[in-house]
Amino acid sequence: MPGTDFKTLASAYDAVDELKDFREQFHFPVSKSDETLYFVGNSLGLQPKATRAAIDQELDDWARFGVEGHMDAKHPWLPYHEEVRDTLARTVGALPHEVVAMNSLTTNLHLLMVSFYRPTRTRYKIVIEDTAFPSDSYAMKSQLAFHAPHTGFNAEQGLIRLKPRAGESTLRTEDILKTIDENKDSIALLLLGGVNYLTGQLFDIPTITRFGHDRSIMVGWDLAHAAGNIDLKLHTWNCDFAAWCSYKYLNSGPGAVACAFVHERHTSNAALPRFAGWWGNDPATRFKMGPDFVPVASADAWQLSNPPVLALAPLRVSLEIFDRATMAALRAKSVRLTGFLEQALRQSAMSNRMQILTPTDPAARGAQLSLVVQGATRATAKTLHDRGVFCDFREPNVIRVAPAPLYNSFTDCVKLAQVMGEVFST
Ligand SMILES: Cc1ncc(COP(=O)(O)O)c(C=O)c1O
Repeated sequence: MPGTDFKTLASAYDAVDELKDFREQFHFPVSKSDETLYFVGNSLGLQPKATRAAIDQELDDWARFGVEGHMDAKHPWLPYHEEVRDTLARTVGALPHEVVAMNSLTTNLHLLMVSFYRPTRTRYKIVIEDTAFPSDSYAMKSQLAFHAPHTGFNAEQGLIRLKPRAGESTLRTEDILKTIDENKDSIALLLLGGVNYLTGQLFDIPTITRFGHDRSIMVGWDLAHAAGNIDLKLHTWNCDFAAWCSYKYLNSGPGAVACAFVHERHTSNAALPRFAGWWGNDPATRFKMGPDFVPVASADAWQLSNPPVLALAPLRVSLEIFDRATMAALRAKSVRLTGFLEQALRQSAMSNRMQILTPTDPAARGAQLSLVVQGATRATAKTLHDRGVFCDFREPNVIRVAPAPLYNSFTDCVKLAQVMGEVFST
């Protein structure tokens, strides 16, 4: 749109944005500039203003009730994990008994692989993206190595890394399916990032899941960059399992409690191998303190320990915000916001120095745009930061920007394009 007055357009879009009031519910960090442009909710989401009161409530109840807070706190601690169950389920399109908030993301991936990566001597391979987040690579290689005495294959032999075609930066669904098909008798598990952390590519989760299932392959998803970003339908899409953190789009704070999904066709299978702990036991018998584990028929069965109340309070607050906004409305705004940012960047003074790695098709991306910028270095990232821009820099020259529909505006996008244009056109 050459000659478009993006500023005027942005004001008009913001004026009719039905989600615009949510911005007021978040703390924006102080920056060195007059104005903060926060575009890094894909790394650490902003703090909801209600979070402090929620943590204070638990601290007050601890001071007031001591151990009795397990039953008498405003939000009783004993079943505290249940307080987030319904909102969590709605955020990812799951049934309530299919989700649980617990541990950290990599821990959950391991716990779920204990149950769903069951390699044999013939079917042992794991499929991931070549640019999977390093922790996922480490987790999967260590699972492969753990099972090596039984399968006879080492970590390198067992891992299929999906690579884009030469000259392309993202994966084509047809190529993913082809690789799966070519290795269909030896793949035990597909475990991709729903949205790739580096390129921002959103995979076709339902198609890939179905294709894997048709070949008797377990299909799990790392949804770190998808939860709170994409309108997921984990139950309907039939995913076997998924795990995600809540410190990115879910705004629950640094190192916040992570989450897991297990499809209901597995939750009632008491025979599944798993690492057990007392909080995964059926609550009806948990406090009988018997020696034998009886898994509850829900995703809670993967819990090991009693809920970390102070850490879960921010997640409870955040999920209530998502519930009010709804994922459908957030995703609808997100598609427009990301498209608008893309156009503003393409019209900016940096356009001839920038290549966008993220797919252009809204159905193949979420809120993130990954930009390869000629001349981008740690030093220029600092210059951006000095100008009030919070974004993310990855070596050698990738800048990731993510307009979060809960708190970013169309005007933010225009301002970002303006500042980046100034920094990268000189
Ligand atoms: C895609 C992905 N997987 C795994 C992780 C690791 O998360 P954690 O440190 O919570 O285990 C991250 C962290 O950013 C991530 O983005």
